[in-house]
Amino acid sequence: MRLIISEKNIGYLASLFIKDRMKSAADSLDKGSGGGAKNKNFVLGLPTGGTAIDMYKNLIALYEKKEISFKNAATFNLDEYIGLPENHKESYHSFMRENFFKHVDIEADNINIPNGNVADPIKEGQLYEEKIKKAGGIDLLVCGLGENGHIAFNEPYSSLDSYTRDKQLDISTIIANSRFFDNDIKKVPKTALTMGIKTMLEAREVLLLVSGEKKSFALKQLVEGSVSQKWPATALQLHRKLVVITDEAACNELTVGTYRYFKRLKDEFSELENTAP
Ligand code: GLP
Repeated sequence: MRLIISEKNIGYLASLFIKDRMKSAADSLDKGSGGGAKNKNFVLGLPTGGTAIDMYKNLIALYEKKEISFKNAATFNLDEYIGLPENHKESYHSFMRENFFKHVDIEADNINIPNGNVADPIKEGQLYEEKIKKAGGIDLLVCGLGENGHIAFNEPYSSLDSYTRDKQLDISTIIANSRFFDNDIKKVPKTALTMGIKTMLEAREVLLLVSGEKKSFALKQLVEGSVSQKWPATALQLHRKLVVITDEAACNELTVGTYRYFKRLKDEFSELENTAP
């Protein structure tokens, strides 16, 4: 695990990180195939949520400066509410369209979001997994962290061996997300379709974005706790390539030793940080 603790805008850092990974993949395709397989899509797993909004703004800015293109990208969203019409302003379909897709050059056919309005969510989950496989697996999965340690909508006590399926939302998540539904918990959907923890662990690389003091207990569990279904994000400790970008406030509960350890590390990420405005 690499924990990048930054006072800089984490959405900006995340956008540069994605740009870097997409560029490296394109370069290695060029080299490996003599230019023949240039059309292989880079497959991104994408999150919703407040923390992600800044990342999308920064990705759009990079796209407008012609520093990044999504022509050869395919995306798989992590999750979607069940029973919310796709055009509801709080559906994750709407979130993605408004905050990202309509501003960049991604092909509509390359966008994948679970369908929360199907009669058979279990089947939809299986189809989603098949689509991910068919696309060649996820190259970089970007996700956020819930206050209760959820990743995507894998709530506490989710199976660490799970794939895309329907999940009941935890009451703490319903309360946290009610801010998007006129602060009325009755309006928040109670179930969602979500990638499973195994789906997420099978991505080739994972980038987790954590912002704000409210996430500090969950971050502490992720970095210092044991792997446990009580804190689903701790499963990410098992991933070979996990990068966490976080702000100072979210580090409030880390021990001083852990905090210093990660602050001391100097590598490609310190360079990246130096370019932040
Ligand atoms: C929702 C999403 C998660 C996201 C979480 C954190 O519950 N299903 O994928 O990580 O929100 O969101 P925020 O960044 O708004 O705190």
